[in-house]
This record gives sequence, structure tokens and C-alpha cells, in this order.
Amino acid sequence: MLANCAGIDNRQSSETVATVEQHRPLLHFTPASGWMNDPNGLVYLDGEYHLFFQYYPDSTVWGPMHWGHAVSTDLINWQELPIALYPDSLGYIFSGSAVVDHRNSSGLGNGSVPPLVAVFTHHDMQRQEAGDRQDYEYQSLAYSLDRGRSWTKYAGNPVLPNLQRQSDFRDPKVTWDERGRQWVMVLAAGDHVEFYGSSDLLSWSPLSSFGSDVGGHGGVWECPDLVLLRDPVTGEDRHVLIVSINPGGPNGGSATQYFVGDFDGQAFTVDPAFAARLRRDTAVWIDYGRDNYAGVTYSNAPDGRTIFQGWMSNWQYAQVVPTERWRSAMTLPRELRLTTTDAGPLVQSVLIPELRTTEVVSPAYTALGLPVVLELDVPLDGMAEGQEIGLALYNGVGEELRLGLEGSRERYYVDRTRAGKHDFSDAFAPGVSYGLRHSDSDTLRLQVVVDVGSVECFADDGQTVMTALYFATEPLDRVRAIGVADERIEVRRVVQRDHDE
Ligand code: FRU
Repeated sequence: MLANCAGIDNRQSSETVATVEQHRPLLHFTPASGWMNDPNGLVYLDGEYHLFFQYYPDSTVWGPMHWGHAVSTDLINWQELPIALYPDSLGYIFSGSAVVDHRNSSGLGNGSVPPLVAVFTHHDMQRQEAGDRQDYEYQSLAYSLDRGRSWTKYAGNPVLPNLQRQSDFRDPKVTWDERGRQWVMVLAAGDHVEFYGSSDLLSWSPLSSFGSDVGGHGGVWECPDLVLLRDPVTGEDRHVLIVSINPGGPNGGSATQYFVGDFDGQAFTVDPAFAARLRRDTAVWIDYGRDNYAGVTYSNAPDGRTIFQGWMSNWQYAQVVPTERWRSAMTLPRELRLTTTDAGPLVQSVLIPELRTTEVVSPAYTALGLPVVLELDVPLDGMAEGQEIGLALYNGVGEELRLGLEGSRERYYVDRTRAGKHDFSDAFAPGVSYGLRHSDSDTLRLQVVVDVGSVECFADDGQTVMTALYFATEPLDRVRAIGVADERIEVRRVVQRDHDE
């Protein structure tokens, strides 16, 4: 079964989806039915990308957590597979990661194929509800020898008990640390992350902790990731620590911050120039929009790529958004790159080349046919104080979503206050969302992916990203420029690979 109606013509599927399921995205992964939150166990193996996800099949609100499962060969067309992990006597299956144990260091392989090992949090709901102890979250393993199609829970679970009885002790992300020749697990623990090391994935020793006195602290830390990115100028590998936080995001509720620095096999330290940036801005966000949470990267990705994907929602309203059979979509996978600016290093999020588009010279005011990628490239020389420059997406019933720079060159915005339904939650559109401009370039460059139900805006080559859901009553399939000529907008229609193969 192909999720998201991929494999059939876009416009045809758009009509079908519009009548059957009004807000179902065409380009973004959604489960056929049920509740979904965080992406889990992102891993590449033998030509397939695996997307596991927090899943409750019996309802469209959060409940006993399973790991749902989908696979893709191109990161765009997803095939939903049967549920991978079910809750058990140790608890619900919370977020975590997956690695290919190439050398069979765990001994869980059978000698012919390397095991795919999932590392996740068991959350014991009964123990939590009993309220007398705080050690209801601990880390466990499961493994698969058939490309993720069937899973066995490790008999010795949990592999990392919660000895210090921390009430938040979850979301293990495991990576291979080549320098230290060890597996490293980064784990969220309330207001900080903890690092653990292992030679076999089965027994773990504490290495260090990081973060209680730096970065955003408006909520609990969740879903960390430790990523290696190459500095394009020096050619050196740097580490980026990604940490989600809820609430406490720059525009309210859930969001994901990051730190650039180095992990020496024991501890993570922040790069001095990045630390200076943090003294000014408190936190730097991988996405300033309100709808990109719990994102992490794919393990074992080919060609040294770093591919990041998040849950396209926000805990403030995720459970009440107006979709019927399913709730929540994932963001598009994005490639992360390191860039150096005068004010220190930054992470850029860029569109993956698998998202193929055709060039469409589209005069403004014509129906676009979603999904599309819009590009705006304008000089800012003439921008007056208080002026708005950007674009508006709109439909024939008076709904519109605006985005761009507002008032000054330092401030991006996304305004969905008039973009359709929002009365399901006061938190959904309490006002406009703002993103910090890190670049001082004299040119405004926006790249915007528009799908049914969402916009993902990549500004300044992905230095500032803003992702926003919307629930228009008719597709926002027209565009006009704000503050510049309409001809400045280029429209490219997305070509889904399945169409022409
Ligand atoms: C983040 C999160 C994780 C947890 C999971 C439970 O959205 O709260 O910390 O593992 O969701 O579904």
C-alpha cells in the first residue's frame, strides 16, 4: 500500500483526497489511520529508509505507544508496513533510535546478516500512575534479522535501568563514535542530556551530562541526537547536538534547538563562537515554526548524508487538529549542513534532491495544483522600515497564509491567522509566528514547500526554517507577492518519482 496516494497523478489524487479526507497531505507521510507522533528508529538499510514512529492505532489521540513503520526508497514515497513494536509487560514503547550493527557487536545477529537493533524507552504507565516511584522509564532493545519486517525484544531488557530514579529519562539516540570506537547513547533527562557508552549495545556506562545551564529551558528536554557534520571551510568534522523541548519553543509549545560543538568520546562542549551566539539569543532553533518537533537524523545514511525529519505538529494542539481518520504528518526529510558565518557556525536545512520539481513559469493568480515549491529571490536595498516582503498563499474563499520578512531585515514571519480553521484550539493561531534572521545578506531568498495542510519555509538557504500547519477549507493554491512584483516568484510543481517510473 502506498501512503499519501503517491503513485497516482497528483491532481487526480488531490481531488480524491479533498472529497474523502480534506486535510490529508499529498507529499508528507501520514499513517492511513490512528494517532502518530515522533519519528523513531530512522535508519537506512539495503536500499530502504525506515521510518518508525510513535503510534496508537486504536484512536486519533495519544495512547499506549507502539512503533508504527513505513519504508521508502526515495524519502518521498512511503509504504506503510505492519506495526513493528507493541507495548508489553515492561511498558509502552516510547521514542528511540535504530542502528545497523554491522560487526554484530551485540551478538544478536545470526552470522549471515547484521542485526538491525532498535533502542527505545520502555515507559511503565502503571508504575507512573501508582506515583510512589520515579523510575518508570528505562531503555530497552529489540532486533530484526529480516530488514525490519519482524522484531524480537531482547530477553535481558531493560539494558539501561533508571538507577537515579529520574522521572524523565528517555528517547535514546545511538550513534557509532569512530574516534572512541564505541557506541554512544544520548538520552534526555529532564533539563539536560546524558551520554552513555557501550561496546556491545547491551551494557552501558555513564560518560557525562550536558545542558542544564545552557540553551532553552522553558520545558522538558526530549528526543536528542548527536550528529557529525563536516565544516566546509576547514574540512573538520564537528558535532551538532539536537534537543527538542516542550514547551518553551520560540513561538510557544514544542520546538527543537541545537548546539554546535565537539564530542570527544566522553563529553560535549559548545563551540566558543556558538556559545557567544547563545549568550545573545539563548537558543538557536533548527526550525522557528510551530510545527516541527522531535526531529532526529537517519542512521547509516548513504554517501555521508545527514538527513533529518521531524513530527509536523505541536503538543499544544496536536490532539485536536481537524483531521478525522488520522492525526499528524511528518515534515519532509531535510539534509543538514554546517555553514560558517561571521557570528560563528550554523546548521542549514536544505531540500533533499529526491524532491524533484519541474520548472513551471506560472503567472501569479492561477491555481497552482499542490504540492509546489515556490522560490522568491529579491534584493532588499529598497526595503523600508516597517515594510513587508514575502508572499501570500490564498484561495477563492478569502483564506490566506502570509510569510516573509516583516518590518525589519532581522525578522521572518508566518501568519496563519486567516488561513482557515483554527477554532479547535486557542493555541493554534494566537498571533503571528516569528523567526530570527541569521544572515545579513542584502538578498532575501525564500524556498517554500506548499502541500495540502502545511508550508515549510527555508530562508537564506535554510539558515532559518519555519514550518507551519494550516487547515484551509479549500486548497491555498494561488500565490501573490507581497511588497515586490509577482514575477519575482517562481513556481515549480513537484514531480513524485512514482509518476514517471
Ligand atoms: C516527544 C515525546 C517523547 C516520548 C514520546 C511519547 O514528543 O514526549 O519524549 O518518548 O513523545 O510518545
